[in-house]
Amino acid sequence: MRSQVPIKQPIRISKIDNLIIFLICILISIISSYKLLLISPLNFSDIFSWLLTFTEAMISSGILIFVSKKENPTISSRQIILIISLLLIVQTIKLAFVPTISPLSMITPPALIISQGMGSITALAWVSIASLNWPDPAITINTNLFFISLVSASVVSLLGGRIRSRAQLLQLSIFVPIGALLSQWIFIGEEKISLVDNQEFVFSNGKIFSDSLLLAIVMLFTILIIPIFESIFGLLTKARLLELADKEKPLIRRLSLEAPGTFEHTLLICGLAEEATRMIGGDIDLIKTGALYHDVGKLHAPNWFIENQDGSKNPHDEIDDPIKSAEVLQAHVDEGLKYARKNRLPKPITNFIPEHQGTLKMGYFFHKAKEKNLAINENDFRYKGPIPQSKETAILMLADGCEAALRAMNINASDNEALDTISKIIYSRQKDGQLDDCSLSKGEIFLIKRAFLNVWKRIRHRRIQYPTSKNNTFS
Ligand SMILES: [Fe+2]
Ligand SMILES: [Fe+2]
Repeated sequence: MRSQVPIKQPIRISKIDNLIIFLICILISIISSYKLLLISPLNFSDIFSWLLTFTEAMISSGILIFVSKKENPTISSRQIILIISLLLIVQTIKLAFVPTISPLSMITPPALIISQGMGSITALAWVSIASLNWPDPAITINTNLFFISLVSASVVSLLGGRIRSRAQLLQLSIFVPIGALLSQWIFIGEEKISLVDNQEFVFSNGKIFSDSLLLAIVMLFTILIIPIFESIFGLLTKARLLELADKEKPLIRRLSLEAPGTFEHTLLICGLAEEATRMIGGDIDLIKTGALYHDVGKLHAPNWFIENQDGSKNPHDEIDDPIKSAEVLQAHVDEGLKYARKNRLPKPITNFIPEHQGTLKMGYFFHKAKEKNLAINENDFRYKGPIPQSKETAILMLADGCEAALRAMNINASDNEALDTISKIIYSRQKDGQLDDCSLSKGEIFLIKRAFLNVWKRIRHRRIQYPTSKNNTFS
């Protein structure tokens, strides 16, 4: 389930991209309808039916773009271009090869790419529109075959959005063609011929067999090229998310070696954020990966952050300049964005870097500056933002705020005391307007508090020393 729902910052698509998208839609409409104009002599009703088909294709493309934007509010123009280009390619292939290639191998593989990169709903919308707009109504397709294609593409769309590993993708690309083969054999094939007599079966049902084989080949090829699509179009598949969450990734390894305190803080935040996201039904894989990268910017100067100082000198005390210190703090966001760009992190992951700090005030340095009577502007002591635009980045901000307080809490503290601390931190963020754009409801905030409390109970449990008898050293 995707719950990245920005309210005040809708995606911005440049004029050139809009023009490209519009031109592709026009091309789709022309391809879908031009044959209706080739009839001679052309009369008024023909022109009318052409206009109808043309408009239908234009509206369908518009609906597809609308659905994809609804499901992925952070969708980029490149991804919209990918969706409609796939529609254009399929329409062209239909026109050129429809008597020879079954709709099965045409519709199912793009559905896999779209469901993996943009979710099941967009994929289902794509499948229905790609099945609706047939370029030439004169070509009759076996209705059973059409139905089987629709079912297998829908199955791929639904499962594709949930699949979490490349191995499951492989299984899908094998089982769907087998399913298609069996259903074609049942509904279309020549019933009298037995499956046991292989040679005879293949011979008489050659078309069915080759269709399913072609589907399997195209599906396997699609899986091979999905990583290329991921990097060109910035697609964020579940498999890519899980790959990025691998702690052996160079950037994360560097964090654990060069900023061990930040790494520990990150792991604890992952636990808090994951539990809270599970409670509200958000995207757990997204937040786990986002949390892992949220503070990578601290790599630019690890010892300027308290968690990495292990009692040694604090550089902030040495420079004794609150304005400079605030700049170093802001730099962990700016540098983080640079690391993200260098490591080609996808946009939804990069969003966690600035949004986890939002426009929060760097209270400690702000008060220090005030004490020194410096001529300061409060905004110089606030992070540049933006404030969290999704439920996931908002949860990360709250987890980031609660982590240090929960870690520092006395293990003998009661649940109510812990809940009180959590509530105070969350309330201060709310009052500061940090949660204004993320669409978290009151109920969800309540659930997030409970989730943080549960994680704290777990931490407390871990910190309690177990009594062991002298002779009993095994666990
Ligand atoms: Fe941070
Ligand atoms: Fe952090």
